Amino acid sequence: MTVLVVGSGGREHALALAISHDPGVAAVHIAPGNPGTTAIGTNHPVDICDPDAVARLATETGANLVVIGPEAPLVAGVADAVRAAGIACFGPSAAAAQLEGSKAFAKQIMAEAGVPTAGHRVCHSQQELAAAFDEFGAPYVVKHDGLAAGKGVLVTNDRQAALDHGAGADQVVVEEYLDGPEASLFVITDGIHALALQPAQDFKRVGDGDAGPNTGGMGAYTPLPWLAPGTVDDVMASVVAPTLARMRELGIPFAGLLYVGLAITSAGPKVVEFNARFGDPETEAVLPLLRSPLGQVLYAAATGTLAEIGPLDFDDRAAVCVVLAAQGYPESPHKGGRIALPADTDRVHVIHAGTALDETGQMVAAGGRVLVVVGTGSGLAEARAAVYDQIAEIDFPTGFCRSDIASKVI
Ligand code: AMP
Ligand code: GLY
Repeated sequence: MTVLVVGSGGREHALALAISHDPGVAAVHIAPGNPGTTAIGTNHPVDICDPDAVARLATETGANLVVIGPEAPLVAGVADAVRAAGIACFGPSAAAAQLEGSKAFAKQIMAEAGVPTAGHRVCHSQQELAAAFDEFGAPYVVKHDGLAAGKGVLVTNDRQAALDHGAGADQVVVEEYLDGPEASLFVITDGIHALALQPAQDFKRVGDGDAGPNTGGMGAYTPLPWLAPGTVDDVMASVVAPTLARMRELGIPFAGLLYVGLAITSAGPKVVEFNARFGDPETEAVLPLLRSPLGQVLYAAATGTLAEIGPLDFDDRAAVCVVLAAQGYPESPHKGGRIALPADTDRVHVIHAGTALDETGQMVAAGGRVLVVVGTGSGLAEARAAVYDQIAEIDFPTGFCRSDIASKVI
């Protein structure tokens, strides 16, 4: 099978790598890919939010399966166009991707499906905002309705800051604050059947000790030793099954990756958010432990035959990944900083998230999150040591990382 992976970040590099390890996969193409994915397959420059261009590329490369990484092309209808061209596509339709594309839509589906989640109000004015803040109290949780690349959500005790965050947008969702550790659960689904991957935890704040603003994620680890046994089965029954059923009832079945962001509260797991794609950087931690052939599993989900695939098989090890970001991230990352990886590339497991080659062939930073370094080991302590040992061998003077990923859990 030939697979085309769409996207250019760390998640897509990690997906392409795992797919390339599937013995059923003969060739991998990446659109547009990055300097890291050239070691796995062929990169193709394309505007990934142009549905016709992606469908054309899928036909030209002879792809049997297209896997869409980021949310923007999903919301733009790229999966619909690929399927219309007669090619299997892992990724929801534009209509179903509204589970991520609109916070208000997601909350409505959760309410209709009886899914445990934070109480919420959809607000269109300062008066409605103030009333919702009075109702739920502090800390205030304010979310812009549409896609915002991790910048749309503010959680704060500062009421004025919360009002200001809501002021710019047409429609915002105010939520009850959920207390408790967070877990990310990836669910592969064909719209009816669903298979859970091993849960992970990511670190959203930019600084050590969870200081500073939210980011796309600064690191992740898996498994979660603190998560009660049975939690995944519980979430599959209380969240995933009713959500998929409600989407089918509405005539917009959700097939692809349902990312369930959870808060494990004293009253049980509650949904913080849905995303319509693999999470980043959790993907970089989870996929290295997956033993099942990823290309074949995603193909089954894309063709409505997931029932024929047994439960997913995971290595009984642990993984920790740490993001190397460009100074200034998330507000204004410094681009162009030089990066040197160890000459012996076998010694590092590095995923490229925001790199480029300059005119001289020098690798430089080209995004906010630049590299994701992955360590595995027989337990979290060994995996964590492995990741920070590798980081010490990477020369990236204008980069920084959190030094406390997975430290508390160990
Ligand atoms: P979201 O994009 O909706 O996942 O929100 C980003 C981050 O904000 C989450 O990962 C949480 O850390 C935090 N957050 C979102 N909603 C809530 C909530 N209702 N209660 C507490 N924290 C939240
Ligand atoms: N790691 C969080 C996300 O992908 O949204």
